[in-house]
Formats: sequence, structure tokens, C-alpha cells
Amino acid sequence: MQSDQELKTPIATPVQQSSLVSARLATTDVGLLDFAQKAGKNIFSVIPDATMRQTYLRGPGNIHYVCDPDVVTELLAGAGRSFPKSQFTRNVIGPAVGNGMILSEGEKWREQRHRYAPLFAARNLPVLTSHFAATGEELATFLANANGEVDVADTAQEATLANISRVMFSGNQAVAKRDVRDGMRRFTDYISYMSLFDLMGLPTWLPRLKWLRSKKAITDLRNLTRSVIQIRQAQRHEKPEDFLDLLIEALETDKEDIETTIDNLLTFVAAGYETSANTIAWALYLLAVYPETQKKLHLEIKEACADGPISFESLPLMPFLQAHVRETLRLYPAGALFARDATVDTEIGGVLFKKGDVIMFPVYSLHRNEMLWEKPQEYQLERFLDRKYKRGQYMPFGDGPRICIGAQYAETEIMVLLATALRRVFFSLSSHPIPEPNLTFTMRPSGPMILISTPYLK
Ligand code: HEM
Repeated sequence: MQSDQELKTPIATPVQQSSLVSARLATTDVGLLDFAQKAGKNIFSVIPDATMRQTYLRGPGNIHYVCDPDVVTELLAGAGRSFPKSQFTRNVIGPAVGNGMILSEGEKWREQRHRYAPLFAARNLPVLTSHFAATGEELATFLANANGEVDVADTAQEATLANISRVMFSGNQAVAKRDVRDGMRRFTDYISYMSLFDLMGLPTWLPRLKWLRSKKAITDLRNLTRSVIQIRQAQRHEKPEDFLDLLIEALETDKEDIETTIDNLLTFVAAGYETSANTIAWALYLLAVYPETQKKLHLEIKEACADGPISFESLPLMPFLQAHVRETLRLYPAGALFARDATVDTEIGGVLFKKGDVIMFPVYSLHRNEMLWEKPQEYQLERFLDRKYKRGQYMPFGDGPRICIGAQYAETEIMVLLATALRRVFFSLSSHPIPEPNLTFTMRPSGPMILISTPYLK
């Protein structure tokens, strides 16, 4: 095993964590007013913490919280499989990703899902892995040179944005990466203005005021995206070389209009940027808390691929790393809550979901539910070694027809970036507090996540 002496500088004695940082859910009754006041800042503050002890809970108004694996599965993949995305989701991200795949319904959704599925197909993963490995090397070099305190949340975002840029635009798009990144930052800030007012059927003037203020961020990002498409249209590759070529092909064969192509491009960037980055940040945090596990992973990675690029074929040789990623997504699922609107009265598992009711899937609570998991608040990588869970119990990527199209992309990306970083650098806790998880549209750390990175000696 690589000993501590092989590091350039000694590892600081790990700060002892009595417990892992966790979200603060509502411990008192949440009425409609509470929703209105608190949800816009942090949805966790209005999700009853009883959702971690019970598998079904009736919320205020017409809200249901569902954590029963059978009911979840029936709703997402059975009788409720065609319930549409909730109106509140549409209100929040609609202006930015309008008719893109994430929000479209019915035949329009089916066409898009079918059109873009090949981009994410398993056969493309080896090529995607080579893009991710190139970014991983840059990430590892940055972290090794940092040799001290580093904001891993910010650094991981830089890396996943570089990946999106490589995969979408072959990495040589004329529009600067920084412009896309700044645009995305403003866009995600906009998303964080979400409110559940619409969900509750309450007056919407307050959130709408906020939206108007952040509308410019969206217009700017859409204009930037339009120019990315136009520049590529003027310099077409003969055969499609990246995602952008394929998006343009759909546009030029009249299967899509330019606004929908923009919607989809933004959908992929938005859905694939912060989610993966934050998972990487939480994964590094957990390893800083558990240095022995980190050393074990370091060894596994060195054995699977000593110094060469991390290849797609090497990923199955790293079962501990894969289990670590899955346990990270259990404890800190980026898609910590999603929702559907019931369109017909449906009875499932003894619960009547009436037409118009809002069905919440609080994935964070489902993954930590005391009725479903042993010691749910504890990090135990072993949970995902040679064990299968009941369908509906673990679903970081959702389930049913609307399951995340980027799930394999994300798992591969996260494993490759973690493997390249952990091969060269050891992470430990710093004196800075670890930020709590905050939930707006996706779950993210509520502030910088500062860890100490220490490079291994060659
Ligand atoms: C750790 C990373 C990720 C997590 C935790 C995650 C989570 C999710 C979840 C929970 C859903 C289902 C939402 C629902 O049913 O309402 C979803 C849908 C989706 N995700 Fe992801 N995602 C991740 C990465 C990605 C990536 C990398 C991409 C693309 C590059 C992506 C693209 C999408 C799209 C397009 C949908 C909508 C699919 C549809 O409605 O047919 N996601 N994601």
C-alpha cells in the first residue's frame, strides 16, 4: 500500500467528523405559508423530516410525499408512468429549456428521446471515456499543483464543463469556454430562484418578479447557444463528430426547429454540468472523512491502470470506486427531489392520488429512510458490493420512461474524473466547515467545499 511517507507533504491528521454533513429537513409542521416563505431558498427546509421515517406522507395542500419502493415504482414505471412532469418544474426551468426533452411530453418527448438516445448509447462510452480522461489529466495536474487548500466543488465544475464542451463541441468551439461557463452560472443562479408558489396554486407575483430580474441571463445564454449552432453550421464536418453535429443534423432534416435545438443543447449542458460536478465534490469529501477507504481506492486505481489513461475497459476493474460513487449518490443525490402531476384519479398501495395532485419523490429521504436502510445516515461503501436493492429503493437517476438519459454518461464521467484525481492526489479535511446540502432545482453544497489536496510522490 502507498504509505503516507510517499506523499510530498505529510497528510494532516484527519479532522474527526462525529457525523456526516446532512440536509436540514423540516422538523415542525409545514403549512402553506411556510412553503411560500422558505421553499425558494432551500426546498429541504419544507420537506418534512418524517419522510426519512415514514414511506408515505401527506403534505400541505394537494401534495403527496412518496418513499415506498413499490408505490414509487408503480407511479414512475407502472400506472403513473405517463403522468407529466410537475407544473412547477415547468415554471422554473421552462423559460430556459422550454420544449427540450426534459420537459416535453407525449409524442414530442418520444421523438426527442428516440433521436438523442444514440448519443448516450453504451457503444459511445469508450469515446466519451477518452474525452473524460483527457479532462481528468488536466484536473489531476491542477490539484497536484494546488498542493494545499482547494475548493473541490468549483474545481469539479470546471472539469465537468470542460467535458461537456469536449463532447458537445469537440473541444474546439469558437465560443470561449468561459463564456459558456459564465452563462451557465447565471442560468443556474436563475434556477435557484425557484419557488413552490405555483405548485401551491398561490399568487405568483413574487417569484415572477424574481424571474423577470433573471430573464437576461437566459436570453444571453440562448443567444450564445444560437451563435454556437450558427458557427458550426457554417463550418460543417462531413460526418457527425460530436453531439453538436448530431443536433444540427436533426435541425437540418427539419425534425426540429432552431429554438428546440437550443432547448436541447441547453438541456444537456444544464443537466450534465452541476449534477456530476457536485457528486464528485461529495465523493471527495467522503473520502477525506474516510482516509482508509481513500487509500484502498488509490491502490485499486493504481492496479487497474498504473499511469496510462483511464480507459473504458479499466472501469470494471475498479469495483470499490464504483461502489463509492453509488454510495455517494445515495447519501448526496443531485436529483434530490422530482415531481409529477396526477392527470387521472389513481389508487396505488391504498393511497388515492386525485387528478391535479402533486406527487413528490423526495429521493434524498428515500435514500436515507429508516424503514428501508440499515444505519441510513452512515457511509458504507459495502452496501453496493455484490448487493442488489429492491426497485424503487435506490434511484439517483429516477425510473421508468423518464429515467435520466445521461445516467451512464454521468457514472462513467464521475468514475474517470475521480480515478484520475485519486491516482495522483490525496484529499484531507481542512479547517473550513463543510457546507450543508442545499436544494433548489438540484442539490448542491451551500458554499465552497475546501479540502486539502496533497500530491503523491511519483
Ligand atoms: C450525477 C449526475 C446526474 C443525476 C443525479 C441526474 C438525475 C436525473 C434524474 C433524477 C432525472 C429524472 C427526473 C424526473 O424523472 O423528473 C434526470 C433526467 C434527465 N437527465 Fe439526468 N442526472 C445526472 C446527469 C445527467 C447528464 C450527464 C445528462 C446529459 C448530459 C443528463 C440529462 C438528463 C435528461 C435529458 C433528463 C430528462 C430525460 C427525460 O425526461 O426523458 N443527466 N436526471
